[in-house]
Amino acid sequence: MSLSALPLFPARVFAELLAPQLGGLGRENEPVPRLPGGRSTPVPPGREVHVSGSAELCVAPDRARVSIRLGSRKGVAGEARISVSRRLEYIAQSARQRGVQEENVTVTKDFNRVENAYQMEAEVCITFSDFGKMQNVCNLLVEKLGSSVIVSPPHFYHTAEAVDTLRRQVCLAAVGNTRRKAQEVCRLFGQSLGKPVLIREEEMKEWEGQIDSHPSNSSDTLTVQQRIQSATIYASSKVFAIFEIKGREKRKNKLI
Ligand SMILES: *[C@@H]1O[C@H](CO)[C@@H](O)[C@H](O)[C@H]1NC(C)=O
Ligand SMILES: *[C@@H]1O[C@H](CO)[C@@H](O)[C@H](O)[C@H]1NC(C)=O
Repeated sequence: MSLSALPLFPARVFAELLAPQLGGLGRENEPVPRLPGGRSTPVPPGREVHVSGSAELCVAPDRARVSIRLGSRKGVAGEARISVSRRLEYIAQSARQRGVQEENVTVTKDFNRVENAYQMEAEVCITFSDFGKMQNVCNLLVEKLGSSVIVSPPHFYHTAEAVDTLRRQVCLAAVGNTRRKAQEVCRLFGQSLGKPVLIREEEMKEWEGQIDSHPSNSSDTLTVQQRIQSATIYASSKVFAIFEIKGREKRKNKLI
């Protein structure tokens, strides 16, 4: 899935223009300003624009895990094993035919002696990146195997890469917004935007999606859409930046 398609909210920008820094008239004798971080800037004072900006992005989960449980209890060990094996084979075949890779399927089998019988229990965990495929497989198993298998509701989650990408993208989006804002401020005064002097991510927040569900609604009753929504990760980033301000004429001379 692509991040660019996902933002539910437009990126937000809020301006914090430090007016005294614009224009730079009569500031030659003033000391180099201290930045909020406590460091001093090497750039001559007075020709800077200080701006802050933010962005918010979200990304839906890119993986789902489904667990299928089945079991058999028989007086004869071989019968319990065969009953479970047949269904396991059917599950494996159905998943394979719908494009699930073998490495994304984990099977565990547990054989026990219970009272005077043999009990075999098995669990199949399948991870999917294609949720349509997941539904096809689950629906087929429920239809063909009925109550002889228990198909858990899907658990949606993110790969580490998806979360890392989101964090980078939201920071870049905030920097982009900050730069655009600084650029428009400069344009307003007939100036052009120079090099960045400082870019600092001031705040980064992450949270999961919330759904309006009744407290009595246990997580078992959530629909697939609600599960995806509640597993969606949101991230926001707040950036502070300082850019040099260049005069228009200066820039023209440089280009020639
Ligand atoms: C399937 O397994 C491979 C190897 O472990 C992994 O790279 C891939 O992301 C998995 N795909 C899904 C859909 O989980
Ligand atoms: C679950 O919450 C929805 C509203 O979000 C409500 O319409 C529904 O009746 C609730 N179900 C139960 C079992 O409480």
